[in-house]
This record gives sequence, C-alpha cells and structure tokens, in this order.
Amino acid sequence: MIAMWKGKPRFTILDLAALLSVFFVLGADSSDPASPCFTPTSKYAYATILTGYNGTDSEKYFTAVRILAYQFIHDPHTQAQNGARFIVLVTDSVPQENIHILKQYGAEILIVEQIMREWIHPQWARWNDIMAKLNLWTLVDYEKIVFVDADTVLLGRLDDIFLDPATALQQTSPSISEPQEDDGLPPLPEKYMIAGIHDRWIEQNKKPEPGEKGFYVVNNYINAGFLVLSPSQEMFKYYLALLDIPNKIDLTYPEQNLLNYVHRIDGRMPWKDVGVHWNSITALGQSFPPDVRSLHHKWWSTVANQTVNDYIAGAVERMRKHPLP
Ligand SMILES: *[C@@H]1O[C@H](CO)[C@@H](O)[C@H](O)[C@H]1NC(C)=O
Ligand SMILES: *[C@@H]1O[C@H](CO)[C@@H](O)[C@H](O)[C@H]1NC(C)=O
Repeated sequence: MIAMWKGKPRFTILDLAALLSVFFVLGADSSDPASPCFTPTSKYAYATILTGYNGTDSEKYFTAVRILAYQFIHDPHTQAQNGARFIVLVTDSVPQENIHILKQYGAEILIVEQIMREWIHPQWARWNDIMAKLNLWTLVDYEKIVFVDADTVLLGRLDDIFLDPATALQQTSPSISEPQEDDGLPPLPEKYMIAGIHDRWIEQNKKPEPGEKGFYVVNNYINAGFLVLSPSQEMFKYYLALLDIPNKIDLTYPEQNLLNYVHRIDGRMPWKDVGVHWNSITALGQSFPPDVRSLHHKWWSTVANQTVNDYIAGAVERMRKHPLP
C-alpha cells in the first residue's frame, strides 16, 4: 500500500552518493564497440520513467523503455555522443526481472518513491505513479536532463538540444502582485529551466473557464512527455508544497497540469518552447516536420509516413538482436 502523506511532505530517493557509485558500476559496457565514450562527469543526462502500471498493454510500455535504452546507449544512429547517461526512474512496484533487463542494456536504474496525495485522481490508471516523474528535479548532480515519456522513439540524435538557447538557465521574474492564495508556499528558486513543446491538442480542446487565467489558456500548455529541465531541490520542494494544498490545481493530467500551473507563460517562471523539430506528438493523427528528431509515439502503432514506420521497425529489430551480457 502506498503511504499517503499528511502534513509535511516526506520524500526520499536512494542516497545520491550511493546511487552515483551504482551508476559507475552499471555504466556503458566497454566491450561494446558501439558504446559512446564513458564520461561520468557529463552534466547532461537523458531519462524516462517506468511505473508499476500493469494493464494489458504494460508489456508494450516496458518494450518501449528497452527501445529507448537501446537507442540512447547502443544504436549507432541515435546513441548519445556527449557522454550523457540514460536514466530510468522506476517506481517500487516495477518487477525485478524488468529492472534487470534494463540494466543489461546499460541503463541506470533509479528507484524512486511514489508521490501520491489522496486528493489526486488521474484520468487514467496508467498515470497513477506518474507524479514520481518530479523526482527528476532532485538529480542535482546534473545541470540539464532531457526527459522523454516511455512511449517515445528517437529518429535522430538529441545531443544538441543541451546547447539550444531555449534550454539555458532563466532568471525567475520578480514578484509583481502574486495572488494572496500563493502565500505560505516556499520561495521560488532564483533561477530555473524548463523547456519543451506545446500540447496543441489540449490547447485546442480544453477551454478555460470564463475569466480564468489557468493553464488551459490559449498558447500556454506544455506537454510533459518531453521536457528539458534543470534539477533543483528548491523547485522540487515548491512542487511538493503545491501538492499539499488539496484541490488547488486540477490534476486530471497529473504532473503535466502541475508543471503548467507553475510554469504558465504569464507567471514568474514561464517555460520555453524548443520547437517541434525536437519532438512531436503523433497521437490523434497530429502531423510532424520531416526532420523531427523524436516522436511521442507508441512504437506498436503507425504513422502516415512509411519511411518513419520502417525506421522504427528497424530500430526495434536492432534492439531485439542486440546481444545482452
Ligand atoms: C494489476 O495489479 C493489481 C493489484 O496489484 C491486480 O489486482 C490486477 O489484477 C493486475 N492486473 C493485471 C492485468 O495483471
Ligand atoms: C517521411 O519521413 C522521412 C524521414 O523522416 C522524411 O525524409 C520525408 O520527408 C517524410 N515524408 C513526408 C511526406 O513528410
């Protein structure tokens, strides 16, 4: 049973120092000629999350994470060139055998606690553990992390995104006239960084209440399935403090709405748009540029562009043939 926290948030992830030594041991397999140069000091990392969701399609999501591990760590077409590691956040309900397989690909496993509150009721069961994504902000040994949802496939390298001006550290805007309701929250960090892409479906289909300046206003909404972020304990504490105010925010889309509330474009810490050439969403037939580097896309479904389908099928095939230790 998941602990429901009352009062002060109690969060722990495994001791970071111990983790880093684990990272070292689980690092890129040096016997694999396709492995990138091992640079434990890289300030950058890639990450995804695997939750204990066990619906009928959960095996497909697990395979999706395997594909990402293969693509980021081994696939000559897409592997990280900058020494950045690939981290998989896993919640404690993920089976050991799945964790073992991901380690065999060279992924770094970070077991994180679930972040639950009694008042949060995600729209789908698959999102029950998804708030654990916020643990990314505790990984302060990294300057920047690119997070992708498990149902993402790479079509090209992402390394240059760390140099994109949209992913530079930003100064938090001074408080103008913060609404009274924000009183009692911890201070915002002086600097922050969060970048990603617009969720055009939400922007077009979810309408704000009249007069509301919430996260569903036009041209405001970031999709939490592809994020570049700068870890920060202060930011993390701020997010958790918001979760301790029941029903303050509509969390139908759990972590995504939280981020959209804190990083709304007319707020003090607006998010930056990296553009759809880094990542595009294919659900509901959404179109994407021909040179897109990654797709928020379920590998077991197809898009209209057959070249893309063939590429994804090829990556899955290479992943399955890749020898594991
Ligand atoms: C998922 O887990 C729950 C509780 O652990 C269990 O009741 C349910 O039958 C499981 N569902 C599947 C599809 O395995
Ligand atoms: C299909 O995808 C390929 C590879 O990404 C791209 O080169 C091509 O331009 C795309 N075709 C269309 C019609 O978008």
